[in-house]
Amino acid sequence: MNLIGLPIGDRPPAKASGLEGVVVADTRLSHVDGERGELLIAGYRAEELALEDPGHFETVVERLLAISGAAPQPALREHLARARITTFARLPQLTEALSLSDSMDALLAATAQGSAGSEGLSVLGALSVYVAAGARLRSGRTPIAPDASRSTAQDFMSMRCLPDDPARARALDAYWTTVSDHGLNASTFAARVVASTGSDVMPCVVAALGALKGPLHGGAPGPVLDMLDETTDMDPRGWLERELAAGRRIMGMGHRIYRVRDPRAFVFEQALTRLAAEAPEKSAITARLGHARRVEQAARALLHERHPERPLCANVEFYTALLLEAVGIPRELFTATFAIGRCAGWLAHIAEQRHTGRLIRPAARYVGPMLAQTMPE
Ligand code: COA
Repeated sequence: MNLIGLPIGDRPPAKASGLEGVVVADTRLSHVDGERGELLIAGYRAEELALEDPGHFETVVERLLAISGAAPQPALREHLARARITTFARLPQLTEALSLSDSMDALLAATAQGSAGSEGLSVLGALSVYVAAGARLRSGRTPIAPDASRSTAQDFMSMRCLPDDPARARALDAYWTTVSDHGLNASTFAARVVASTGSDVMPCVVAALGALKGPLHGGAPGPVLDMLDETTDMDPRGWLERELAAGRRIMGMGHRIYRVRDPRAFVFEQALTRLAAEAPEKSAITARLGHARRVEQAARALLHERHPERPLCANVEFYTALLLEAVGIPRELFTATFAIGRCAGWLAHIAEQRHTGRLIRPAARYVGPMLAQTMPE
């Protein structure tokens, strides 16, 4: 077979390489207004859900699943608690997977191995056990058994051996509620693509976890905390300039959709202020928050000088780092902890996608050489 080089311009044009602005699904689950900085989750403003509504994370899971068209889940909180207990009983078979040194690799491996055949809520219940137990196994300690009488947040704190502190559990609830869904982000899209093939819940969640692991999606809060540590007691501008000069991005800044500050950054700042008012470490949390605001302002000003055409503001990850740190979660668990909250959205999107019954199968623009035409002799 002969190959010839057809000019690429003669072939149908490719869509933007990051699919920006391309609408590929209808959803009733969340609405992201990137120009006005507004986020609706299950019909509620994110700040209202997380800060005013006294409900637990379980409330938003229930609302998202109800909207998605998934089968009704009576006694959802008990269902999640039972899933944690069942998962804990299976941990001896998952020790190798959970002992992988990277917490996201461990979560991926344990989910793939331990959740085969499980339906949605069981996978969500299992994730919190995998994250908490995995961290203990990796540091040579014995996993702590879940307690079915607790909420997901309270039980996660207890399985992590964190103090039984209602203020911190409330902050974690606010965190998971706020990150529960966010339009067609990369991990949710990955879950929907797999769901569109008719696959089970577990492979959809594994695909989503794989997408979430990347630093451009869910992997930024750890590096945000590193940045805050490295700039403590100094004017952050010089440090930020050196990062940019080295060709690195400022973690926790910029967003594909938002052209203003991410509304979730505001929610987390409020949750932190509330936590600081109740926690014994009030002055440490307040000082850290003050420093983060200075770094955010310096980063925003510097990025504006470099990209006046494109507003680059704080995204969800910036204050995630601070909030999870104040709750007592170590930075190596930030992305895995995010996954527990976002799993609510994944499950609802999987159900929503199944209702459409349509395979997601876009096209690629071929830019390689074409076969030569066979010329008549
Ligand atoms: N620091 C420095 N420069 C940044 C930046 C950041 N955080 N975010 C975007 N930019 C710059 C890019 O370098 C690019 O500049 P160029 O045109 O000169 O190459 C320009 O802004 C546009 O960036 P682009 O990658 O096209 O934007 P995007 O919409 O694809 O990116 C993110 C969105 C989130 C991937 C991006 O802002 C980023 O990498 N942020 C840091 C990682 C992060 O916080 N991730 C968590 C997201 S919730």
